[in-house]
Amino acid sequence: MTSPATRGARELRAEHAPVGIFDSGLGGLSVLRAVRAQLPDESIIYVADSLYAPYGERDDDFIAERTLAIGQWLVTQGAKVLVVACNTATAQSIAMVRERLPIPLIGVEPGIKPAASQSKTRVAGVLATQVTLRSTRFQSLLERYAADCRFLCQPGHGLVQAIERCDVGSAELRTLLQSYLQPMLDAGADTLVLGCTHYPFLDAAIRDIVGERMALIDTSIAIARQVERVLDQSGLRGAADVPADLPRFCSTSDGAHLQQLAATLLQLEAPVERVVIPSPRTLAPDSQAA
Ligand code: DGL
Repeated sequence: MTSPATRGARELRAEHAPVGIFDSGLGGLSVLRAVRAQLPDESIIYVADSLYAPYGERDDDFIAERTLAIGQWLVTQGAKVLVVACNTATAQSIAMVRERLPIPLIGVEPGIKPAASQSKTRVAGVLATQVTLRSTRFQSLLERYAADCRFLCQPGHGLVQAIERCDVGSAELRTLLQSYLQPMLDAGADTLVLGCTHYPFLDAAIRDIVGERMALIDTSIAIARQVERVLDQSGLRGAADVPADLPRFCSTSDGAHLQQLAATLLQLEAPVERVVIPSPRTLAPDSQAA
């Protein structure tokens, strides 16, 4: 049993320990933005696994291995909780990773429940990766909450790649988005679930296409509130008297795009560290190509 003295020391350390946030790439920055707004006293360490993005084109074991390896690495960096800010990694591996890490985990999932409760036409669109859409976790979300609402599920092929290049509004990207969204509009959808943490960075381009005809469901604020609840329940809240530093940004790639997107979309000017986080199938140098 943990003694009160040990618990006190642990909580004191936790006050200064960072919240770990991870995504396959830059999408988790949309979650980071919400976590900073909700929890301004918390330090954050963010890992973008951009060298291996997009996960949506990877096999299940690869995604699970990366999620575990990055979670373990974040634990060695002192993270007190892990936010898996990636729908694809959550859908694929959160149960397994939760069993193996000594810190609390918070995952993300497409906002099917809020969409089903908000849609008036009872038709809603979902944009997410192919891996998320075909996962058992997503299928059971639909079974639980879709009720009498019809969900049109569209894999967002090409969207993560565009955002990883910092493209959030080129003509090609808009054409691609149009091809995904027009069939939803034609079917009468009035709600769009952004089922990938990269997609909130496309909100302006999406708005240009759908106007006010669709409400966009982005769960990042709900995730930030969940992080707050978990920190409170576990006695891990950051010290309010010490202002949090800028996030510590880490990337498995060169980090240039992470730095650019953080600066332009989040107004965060911070350096990016390049980190090497091996996992079983990335040990050989020639397996590094995405
Ligand atoms: N941001 C990730 C998600 O929420 C993108 C996955 C990918 O890399 O394909 O699913």
